[in-house]
Amino acid sequence: MNQDELKRLVGTAALDYLKADSVIGVGTGSTVNCFIDALINSGIRIEAAVSSSEATTRLLEAGGIQVVDLNQTGGLDVYIDGADEFDAHRRLIKGGGGALTREKIVAAASKKFVCIADQSKQVKVLGAFPLPLEVIPLARSLVARKMVALGGQPEWRENFITDNGNWILDIHNLDLVDPVKMEQTINNLAGVVTCGLFALRPADMILMATEGGVRQL
Ligand code: 5RP
Repeated sequence: MNQDELKRLVGTAALDYLKADSVIGVGTGSTVNCFIDALINSGIRIEAAVSSSEATTRLLEAGGIQVVDLNQTGGLDVYIDGADEFDAHRRLIKGGGGALTREKIVAAASKKFVCIADQSKQVKVLGAFPLPLEVIPLARSLVARKMVALGGQPEWRENFITDNGNWILDIHNLDLVDPVKMEQTINNLAGVVTCGLFALRPADMILMATEGGVRQL
């Protein structure tokens, strides 16, 4: 199976975690797009979705799924989203698609975060994938200098503006042996909107697509 087939497999497997007539949280990215396709084709009736990005909102609405504001829904039962990397403790790096802030908010509002990923995203230690930070534009250089002091190599994702009007720094070669501590440290930097580490609030379950089928971790 190629990677696209694995993404479709795990996107479809996530349907098992939905309750009919509920409001669900939906993440962003190519794996989530497969989930949205599967949901639209499944005939499963959900009441509505809270979306983590403008791109996801467009896909959901095109498929006839109502998108509602998180402020109207209160807590959500389940959030389905992908990841750029995950470790054995279900801690994640996210934000490759730049939607990390809304993703972190919807994850925080959800009882169960089901992360869908193919096996290529599994790592022993997080950090081979550069860590995305959403930053206030004014603070880009300041945050970059602070990240150098923490041992990373920041790269500005030029010509990219987040759905919230901010910029992204991708931090290479950061030591993420203790991702909880690093997330706390980065969260305290002035000008950082969101850090792409999901370690303080990891996924509750990983559905990992492999050649042999979908494994639940
Ligand atoms: C977007 C994300 C995505 O979940 C992550 O980038 C994985 O994307 P894909 O499923 O396309 O590999 O965090 O901000």
